[in-house]
Amino acid sequence: MARILTGIQSSGLPHLGNLLGAIQPAVELSRNPDNESFLFIADLHSLTTLKNGAERELYVRSIASTWLAFGFDTDKNVFWRQSRVQEHAELSWYLSCFTPFPMLQNATSFKDKSEKLADVNAGLFTYPVLMSADILLYDANIIPVGKDQKQHLEMARDIASRFNQLAGEDVLILPEARIDEKMMTIPGIDGQKMSKSYNNYINIFLPENELKKVIKKIVSDSTPLEEPKDPETDITFKLYSLLASDAEIDTMRQNYLNGGYGYGHAKQALLEVILDRYAEPRRLYNYYMNNNDELEGILKAGEEKARVIARRTISKVRRVLGFGS
Ligand code: TYM
Repeated sequence: MARILTGIQSSGLPHLGNLLGAIQPAVELSRNPDNESFLFIADLHSLTTLKNGAERELYVRSIASTWLAFGFDTDKNVFWRQSRVQEHAELSWYLSCFTPFPMLQNATSFKDKSEKLADVNAGLFTYPVLMSADILLYDANIIPVGKDQKQHLEMARDIASRFNQLAGEDVLILPEARIDEKMMTIPGIDGQKMSKSYNNYINIFLPENELKKVIKKIVSDSTPLEEPKDPETDITFKLYSLLASDAEIDTMRQNYLNGGYGYGHAKQALLEVILDRYAEPRRLYNYYMNNNDELEGILKAGEEKARVIARRTISKVRRVLGFGS
């Protein structure tokens, strides 16, 4: 039995990069009867960048609704908000005392922001430690994530090994990242990595007319409609390829190479494939967003289950460290 675990920060609305990089692969893995899945909302992590509480609440609901919209079975599995299980913060403190300063200095998530150190808060710096705690608290084996999280997973393994060395036994289980090569890094509408912080993302749950406006903004070159176009360098084609069937992708590729097919046509096809493939998740997402009490009930039940497991690990860790169990 493999234990799958992954989380999404509640720092913005979930986007196509989160869906393809983490949510869909995780829900897929959770359907295997041999797996047990732990999916959570990393609301503590979101505090490193987002300070507004009302916004956070909205994003938490939105991410929770997304997991459910993709069919995550919360009876069989575990589903919770990180902040409601206090053991995450407790383990994070213990682990931070096993984390060398240079390891955190080397984290890309920190380095990316380190030109302006005055804007870097301590939470952002120790972000990978809290993430390690999230994983190690639940004895997770497989962590489906996008490529940007690979280094954080290596850190979690490293920190766990350091702790185990002190304990003289394998108290913490070393997790493995699961990164889908095809999904690697999903581009945003400007061609950079799709990200909440670059504001270049596609929210597939938008009403059709708003979704259409976002898709229209996808950057393309200025090759005239009649001329052939290079599918391999075009962002619309890349996004379409991640969602469409092989036959549909071949047809679009051929259209690009033949000419007489404009980027506007490709964008319309992308819109249609999103509306078609995500019709049921779009319906369910709106259902959960409008049924707050039901969503809250599901999360609270999940938090009860998560706490039982988290407490078991914390008590082993406390014993090793001489804090009593
Ligand atoms: P977050 O919220 O930034 O992203 C959530 C997941 O979506 C993936 N992702 C992408 N994948 C492909 N292309 C993209 N453009 C793209 N953008 C985002 C991310 O790789 C991630 O898998 N630190 C995590 C949240 C977290 C976590 C954890 C994950 C906290 N604790 C423990 C796993 C295990 C994060 O910031 O994700």
